[in-house]
Amino acid sequence: MINVPKTSMMSAVSLIVPNVTKPVVKSVAPTVGKYLVPPAKKATLTSYSMSLLTGKGAMRVTSGIASTAQIRLAHTDLRVPDFSDYRRDAVKDSNKPTSESASSRRAFTYMVIGAGSVATAYAAKNVVTMFVSSMSASADVLALAKIEIKLADIPEGKNATFKWRGKPLFVRHRTAEEIAAEQAVDLSQLRDVQHDNDRVQKEEWLILLGVCTHLGCVPIANAGDYGGYYCPCHGSHYDASGRIRKGPAPLNLEIPEYVFPDEDTVLVG
Ligand code: FES
Repeated sequence: MINVPKTSMMSAVSLIVPNVTKPVVKSVAPTVGKYLVPPAKKATLTSYSMSLLTGKGAMRVTSGIASTAQIRLAHTDLRVPDFSDYRRDAVKDSNKPTSESASSRRAFTYMVIGAGSVATAYAAKNVVTMFVSSMSASADVLALAKIEIKLADIPEGKNATFKWRGKPLFVRHRTAEEIAAEQAVDLSQLRDVQHDNDRVQKEEWLILLGVCTHLGCVPIANAGDYGGYYCPCHGSHYDASGRIRKGPAPLNLEIPEYVFPDEDTVLVG
């Protein structure tokens, strides 16, 4: 049994059986040579024949031995936006050479880059400042970092002790005799050589950290062989300038940073 494609010539034949003894349906088709049915014509594979198989419109198919099969879409129906409002006036005319407007366009570009650089640097500076300041001490900690002392409350010849940054702070109101005695000390006798004038901003006010430089005990004021401070832990003697004079301590008592905002006040820290 052979299925025969319908053609205009074979419109009357639906089934042909190649058996001469008993044909099922009598053929009405004319014979061509020894063939009852001419062989179907093979379609030649060309661009045109393939294009007939594709959808109508802009789509095209190309094929061949030396070319790759490809489909090209003609985008002629796409609508392109008009950017004229965003383009510079100097370059809207395509007939004009761009070199004519190069200097003005370059100046504008440089201005934009410069302004952008300044803004970027400013933003970077702010970010770095915020980052660094986040690591610094907070306002309440800074408030504790400084101590303001009223000097009028400390009588002459007395030593007042305050707590500052977790340490004892000595403020000594020296007498004229103490000042004269400390200024007259022979520096060659000192272990940690320092003149009295280098340890005070105002002669009558001696401001010290009350921490023994040996092992950190708190010395006792107005005690010891030199009338300044005495550390009972291991027997270190300091004079009225806080200089080590006797005992195991290696250094003079430390002097913190301080200023006198006015005549009656000292600000330590
Ligand atoms: S700690 Fe002051 S003398 Fe040792």
